[in-house]
Amino acid sequence: MSGATVVNHPLVQHKLTIMRKKETSTQGFRRLLREISLLLCYEVTRDLPVVMHRIETPIQEMDAPILDGKKLVFASVLRAGNGLLEGMLDLVPAARVAHIGLYRDPKTLEPVEYYFKAPEHLNERLVIVVDPMLATANSAIAAVDKLKERGANNLRFLCLLASPEGIEKFNKAHPDVPIFTASIDEKLNEKGYIVPGLGDAGDRMYGTK
Ligand code: URA
Repeated sequence: MSGATVVNHPLVQHKLTIMRKKETSTQGFRRLLREISLLLCYEVTRDLPVVMHRIETPIQEMDAPILDGKKLVFASVLRAGNGLLEGMLDLVPAARVAHIGLYRDPKTLEPVEYYFKAPEHLNERLVIVVDPMLATANSAIAAVDKLKERGANNLRFLCLLASPEGIEKFNKAHPDVPIFTASIDEKLNEKGYIVPGLGDAGDRMYGTK
């Protein structure tokens, strides 16, 4: 697996455009992120296996599909990952949640871990790692490293925006983990921001600076 799957749905692209605009308010940004995460979640779970289950409708019995296997895990890379997480939990309320606290050292751009908490039996679950911005990919790679150390072996990575540099680096580090994104932007700048991007996703969703 290499490259990334771009979710080209017109609603995703329309919402993303409004999120990119610098005049979009914190409130508007958060609402759009929640909406877009539903659509991205729909795509990243499109091929989940189902199993037939015997049920009884008010009319008669039938075999109907339900999701197969253990509950999914959504792994949020703090803090910006939580913006994607909320909408995804609206769509898959039974999912389990992992939190991975990594911040980016502004000088080295390297990830520093400060928190890790994940559900049990990661080795038997699909783990979808969520972080809005795949920029240098350092945090994403470190998050997946941590999850693999705890047994995860079936992972996907979901973001809003990705840089070509980040995709290449992530693919090299974790060729078994497919990336889903709403857009592959032009490049990274010297500060590690995605260009044209949308700025700092955490600051935009929480109104910080
Ligand atoms: N993180 C962000 O929030 N924005 C970027 O452009 C890069 C990393």
